[in-house]
Amino acid sequence: MDYFDKWQDYWDKFLFNRYGKEAVQNEDDLFLQVARTENKKRVTHEIFERIIELIKSDLDLKTDDILVDLCCGNGLFTYELKNTVKQIIGVDFSRSIIETASKFKIANNISYHYGSAVDFMKSFGALMPGVIPSKYLMNDALAYFQQKDFKELLFCIKAVSPHFKFLIRGVPNNDLKWNYYNTPERKQFYADLQAKGDLTNYGLGTWWQPEDIKEICEELGLNYVITNQQLPVSNFRMDICISA
Ligand SMILES: C[S@@+](CC[C@H](N)C(=O)[O-])C[C@H]1O[C@@H](n2cnc3c(N)ncnc32)[C@H](O)[C@@H]1O
Repeated sequence: MDYFDKWQDYWDKFLFNRYGKEAVQNEDDLFLQVARTENKKRVTHEIFERIIELIKSDLDLKTDDILVDLCCGNGLFTYELKNTVKQIIGVDFSRSIIETASKFKIANNISYHYGSAVDFMKSFGALMPGVIPSKYLMNDALAYFQQKDFKELLFCIKAVSPHFKFLIRGVPNNDLKWNYYNTPERKQFYADLQAKGDLTNYGLGTWWQPEDIKEICEELGLNYVITNQQLPVSNFRMDICISA
């Protein structure tokens, strides 16, 4: 699939374009705004809680950690981690979404920033002098990156944090694509998207090849572990834990 480079605009207008809602009014809308849905309804409480537990354990979050939540969305998950770490720095390039976070998901130890993840990490030293994050999270957003941007992001993180753990969750795994398009109707839906040139893949983004991730990490001398997610969370996405 060719790359779609208007993701910022896509996410800014997602709530209105998909649901006809101008702004978030309640907790359910927060889920809709960042596509945390199944059949257009917010994911179950069980799945939400499970993801939060997995983030805490996979990142081995501790009370002295400084965590950067890259592409943090409206803070739905960010906020749930506030009591587990010392400080959280969230960044997202959708103004409407980050403004929602600043309105609904505030805490003394969370700061939300508007901007692209790569640009933010590039200027991190100037923006946050003396702060050296130990952990990084990117939940359900790598699908909106190109390989070159991902590589640049890792390069910047390495420069800011000599030692870090970075959990990238929910990356569509190209090897598991047919678990998702698993009925004749779904296969046809995918074929139709391709035929009409929907480069967003109906919002799902890019299917990543695990080999491409390995190659980038090896080039940068970073350790990585790739794990396929399990149901009930997902049977077509993978998680990547990168460390240095
Ligand atoms: C599916 S939502 C996930 C949000 C949040 N991480 C969560 O799990 O609820 C994807 C988010 O990634 C953000 N995003 C995508 N590419 C980005 C980039 N290059 N820099 C900053 N934010 C980005 C979008 O604005 C959107 O809020």
